[in-house]
Formats: sequence, C-alpha cells, structure tokens
Amino acid sequence: MNGPAPGAPRRVDAYDKVTGRTRYSGDHAPPGLLHAMLATATIGRGRVVEVLTEDALAVPGVRLVLTRLDQDRVRPPGFPMTGAGYGFQSLQPLLDDRIAYRGQPIALVVADTLLAAVEAARLVEARYLAEPVAVTLDAEGAETVSQGAELGRVARFADLEVGDADAAFAASAVRIDAMFDFAPQHHAPMELLATVVEWHGERLVVHECTQNTGAVRHGLARVLGLDPARIEVISPQVGGSFGQKTWLQPHVAPLAVAAARLGRPVKFVMPRGQTFLAASFRPASRHRIRMGADASGRLTAAIQETRQQTSRHDLFASDYPAVTSRLYGIGHFRGTQHLTRTDVPTPGFMRAPFEHVSTFAFESVVDEIACATGRDPVELRLANDTAVDPVTGNPFSSRHLAACLRRGAELFGWAARTPAPGSMRDEDGTAVGWGVAAGAYRASAAPGVARLSADAEGRVGVDVTGHEMGQGLGTAVARTIALDLGIPAGAVRVGLGDTRQVPQHLTAGSWGTATALPAVHAALRLLRDRLGVPDAGPVDLAAAVAATGRPRIVVEAVTRAAAQSAKALDRLHAGLSAPAGPEYPGFSAFSFIAHFAEVRVTPGTGRVRVSRVVSVVDCGRVASPVTALSQVRGGVVWGIGATLREGSEPDPRYGGFLNTDLAEYVIPVHADVGRIEVDFIDEPDPRLNALGVKGAGEVAFVGVAPAIANALHHATGRRHRRLPIRLEDVM
Ligand code: MOS
Repeated sequence: MNGPAPGAPRRVDAYDKVTGRTRYSGDHAPPGLLHAMLATATIGRGRVVEVLTEDALAVPGVRLVLTRLDQDRVRPPGFPMTGAGYGFQSLQPLLDDRIAYRGQPIALVVADTLLAAVEAARLVEARYLAEPVAVTLDAEGAETVSQGAELGRVARFADLEVGDADAAFAASAVRIDAMFDFAPQHHAPMELLATVVEWHGERLVVHECTQNTGAVRHGLARVLGLDPARIEVISPQVGGSFGQKTWLQPHVAPLAVAAARLGRPVKFVMPRGQTFLAASFRPASRHRIRMGADASGRLTAAIQETRQQTSRHDLFASDYPAVTSRLYGIGHFRGTQHLTRTDVPTPGFMRAPFEHVSTFAFESVVDEIACATGRDPVELRLANDTAVDPVTGNPFSSRHLAACLRRGAELFGWAARTPAPGSMRDEDGTAVGWGVAAGAYRASAAPGVARLSADAEGRVGVDVTGHEMGQGLGTAVARTIALDLGIPAGAVRVGLGDTRQVPQHLTAGSWGTATALPAVHAALRLLRDRLGVPDAGPVDLAAAVAATGRPRIVVEAVTRAAAQSAKALDRLHAGLSAPAGPEYPGFSAFSFIAHFAEVRVTPGTGRVRVSRVVSVVDCGRVASPVTALSQVRGGVVWGIGATLREGSEPDPRYGGFLNTDLAEYVIPVHADVGRIEVDFIDEPDPRLNALGVKGAGEVAFVGVAPAIANALHHATGRRHRRLPIRLEDVM
C-alpha cells in the first residue's frame, strides 16, 4: 500500500491544510491582541536575587513585565505521575526565587507588538546565585533513586519479574551482556507551543495547542484557583506534537494573569530555542541487557536494567520492560528501573517514549543472539513467538507479529540475504546491509464521549473526546460515520479538542482511535435507534430525521471503558488521565510491527543511507488507510532520525542543551529518506473494542532504529550501542 488509489478515501482536512485554511491556536487573533515573550534564566541551577526590568519597561509599547506571581494566588499544577496533577512538571515558574533549570522563565513581558515583546524580554536582566549543575546521568551531583519508598508512589513505575531470570541467564548456553546509551531528544514539532488567552468577563477562553484540552482546563482551574466551569480550552488542530503538548505548560497561567491585569487578550508563541530548554523532552537513558538462549536460539532469559534521567523536582516514571517482556515467549524476565535526578525541566513522553529505546537495546541483542547461534534473524524471531503474554499468562487479544515478519520478509526479498557481515556489496564497493527488528506497543483505550447529531437537511456532526495532531483522528472519525451511514466522509463535521462540547481526555499513547471510534460507534447505534432505522445499512438521513417530526436528533454515548468504570468517568470529567491497558480482564493487548531495513555505507567516508524500509503493521482493523499509512511512514522517518541524526547535547557547564535549533538538532531531510513500503495485516481485534482497532502511531516507530542498526552491523560487522549513531561511530 503506497498511496491512496484513485477514488480512495482521503484526509478530510487535506484541502484545508494544503490551502492554508486550517487554523492553529496561534492563528487566533481577537481584537486588541497583545503579544508576550518570556525572559528565561541563564543559569542552570540556583536562585534569582533580583530581576531588573527597568530597561524592558522602557521599550515603547511594553505594557507589563511580570516577574512574580505569588501575590496572585497562583499555585503549582501538580504532576500526574505522583498524584492528581495537570502540569508537565510540578514546578510553576515565577512563584519563588528558585531556578531549577536553564531556560526557566524569570519574567513574562507583554507588549503591543511582538517586536517590542521580544526586544523587552531580551533586556530583562537578573542577578543570580548560581549553583553547580548536573545535566547528565554521570554528572557529579546527579542523584539516582531506585525502586522503594520514594518510587513506590509513582504511577506506572514498576519493576517486573517473571520466573527466575538470574538463574536462567546463568544457565544459558549462549549469553550476551550489553550496555546501551541513549541521548536525550526533543520533539521538534513543526507548530511551536502557542497560546492565546482571552477573558470574556468571568470566563477564560484559551486557544492552546495541546493534546489534552481537558488537563489544560482543569490544570488552569487549579493553578488560578478558578471553577473549571469558567474555563474553556480549544485546540481543534495541532501542528504536530509527538508528546510535547501532553499536559499544561507552565507559561499558560502567567499569560492568563497578564491578560486579566491588562484586560486584553494575550498571545504567546514559544521561540524554537526556548522549546529546547523550557519544555519537556525524551530523557537520556542507559540500558543493560543480559539475554540468554540455548544453542538453537531459543531465548531462555532476559534481564533489562535501566536508568533514566528525570528532573530534580519530579519523578518522570519509566516503563521500559513493559514492552520488551512481551516481544517473545521468554519465561524468565527481570526488568528493574532507576531514575536519576538532574537539573532539567521534567522530561516527558516523546513518541514511543519507552518502547523506542527499550526495543533498540533489546532487538539489538536479539540480533546478536541470532549471529551467535547461526540462526537467521527472522527465523529466530518466529521461533520465539508466543501466543500468551509471558508476564500475565493471559492470551493476547490479537497478535500477528509472525504474519508481520513473514509478509515483511517476502516484500523485502529477505531470502536473498547472505548472512555474513560485509558479504553484500554494490558494484562500486558500497557495503549493503539488511536488518530486521520487531516492535510492539500497548493497545490502550481511554474513556471517551461522542455527541452525534443529524438534522432534517441530512447534515451530520459529531463532537468527540480526542485531539487532531495531524495523525488523522478526524479522518478516522468521519470515515467511521460515513461507512456506517452510507454517506460521504466529507459530509461529516467532526469536532475535536474542544472542552465546550464534550469532556476531553489526553490523546496520546496511541489510544486515540481506540478511544474515539468506540464512542462514535456507540453513538451511531443510539442514533439509528432514535431514528427507528435498522442497525446496519445505508440511511436516508434527511428523510429519517424528518420522519421523527423533529428538526434535529442529538445522541450522546460513552465508551464501554467509561460506561463500566465510574472512576474512569470521574477522571475524564476532572481532566485526569484514565487509560486502560495493556492488561485487561482475561487478555493483554498490543499492536505489533516488523521492520526490514536496507542500509548502504560508503567505503572510506562511512556515510550511511537508509535506502529502503519495509514495515508491516498489526494495528487491528485499519480505520483510516490513508492516514494510517502516513503515520507509519512518519514513524519510519522518525526512526531514521532517531538512529542517525537526532540527539540533544547537554551543556555540562551552564545547564540546558547546546543544540537548540533545527540547524543543530538535526532531523532527517528528504534526501535522508529512501523508499518506504508499508503494509497492514488489517485483521480486526474484536476483543478490544467493537471496531477492532488498536493503535498505529507509536508502534510505527518502535523497532525502526534496531532494524537500521542491525542492517549496519550486517553491512560493516560493527555493533552500535549508542543512539544517535554518528559518522565517527561508523567510520
Ligand atoms: Mo504520545 S508520546 O503518547 O503523544
């Protein structure tokens, strides 16, 4: 499947996007709009003694320079992983004199023009008492905490123990013991963090680019001490996010305070450079993998010990072994996790936050086992497949990893591979390598609500729990309704990311379709019932609505997850995360993928090109082929970036990161991306939800990096245990 066939369904928002009609948060321009800019700390840790604002205030057009908010009854937002919280970090800047990371806001400047705000922010100066910084895992002063009293209260942080991994590893005929190091990374979405706040009397309306309008609403209510009913958050289209826009950003509340004081709407777009210092990121991590196998390549034991960077002020929990323990039927598995406190903003989720690096380490070692036992790496993976979840003993709701591997091998032409490293070359001497890796990602679902309406003109509208970050949720929703009712997808109005309509929940963790679509499906059943039409088949909507004698029929449905759990529904209405999965009563649910990569390494220079990737995905039924395809292609491109390009370089002297722009934080360009072929198993998973959908967004990216690194090993004979892999590592 390499592009929509003529006449095939397209993205419902494609036309608006390519013609520039799509409106993003920062495009909202109410009359009287003022512009804000942040002045940020130039030290990496310490205290602010004094903020000097005189020069900034003298800039013509400057209205306000906010340096402290503790007089405004502003409170911290709380951190979701250590209780009910809403912020990407618990630290709320401008409340005290503490500086926890370089780039932390020390003042918010508001002016008539963007130019004046930028100029004034530049003129804000501060005197500090600087303290030594620790921004890397090994830095002096970085503090490591392990499972125990402190980590016990962190949600999702769990060691994992199946069987007796240490004994089984010691008894294994073949043993690999390898350390892996991962640089931090930043999401670098095209759309920068953007906020427009406006007060309508007592009501606060926030146009915010976010995956989580619900948390922004309830988080602002907590931070500002307001009734959430007075706050509305609107985010109909996000220009990429990848996890960066997951929770409330610390600058939104100060913007609301400034807008209230000035009686004018205020807009802020965070400059790219600040997003590398003052927003969340994928933390550095280190993994030690010990893996054992018998002489035939049957995997007998695995031990995965991880250490991950977090901030001083929050414990951002990791979840590394949750996915690697499910890739194969390994009876003895131990995963232990540690967090290291460093002087950075709290790290966060970045697409396949744990699964990407975890799987890189794990699937690299699986490849080493294949080499050590003389097995073909595809055959070895097939031989270690499992029908039951080794962690719980329950079956998987559906699992087509073997089919992904088989179909991928066929599409790629794997049978022509000669196993010896360096054995495949182009005529000009370029080394060619072929590698494979598997991936998985938990299939979660969050509580969701869909309000569906149909009118006597035949118009259909739906408002649903979910956000559109470009992944194609709107298209999947429209297509689900269109296929059900027998109408064109373009005729369906889809409302997403708007707290004025239905309660909003974080859209992340690849649970978007599995959350929105079951709610939509349930609403469609209610609508058909109200219209008195059969439960399936095309509907003449205009006639059916007219026959009810009412101008418009509106129905509202919740997902089964929400219907069955009062707690989940309460959390939805409080803007708190409540995803279920991957463990459900009686089964475990994951999406699966197999990636096959071809690399070409130029002799002498070591230049690596990923000339070809084949990816075969088991994400349940494909709800929207054109956007799912685009998601998987995007995941592969991300994988190329993550393997060969992207790494944030910490600054050990002053804190923060050194490469804070897209000139130096290098992402793949078109010339870096070879041919990408994607295929879907497209088998529904009926145990998970009525539509049989699992997630595709993150699994797409899981396993790309090890497939490339394994291909590099096949080309050059060299193993790579650090990401990103740079020219100097290959030469
Ligand atoms: Mo994703 S990192 O859960 O937006």
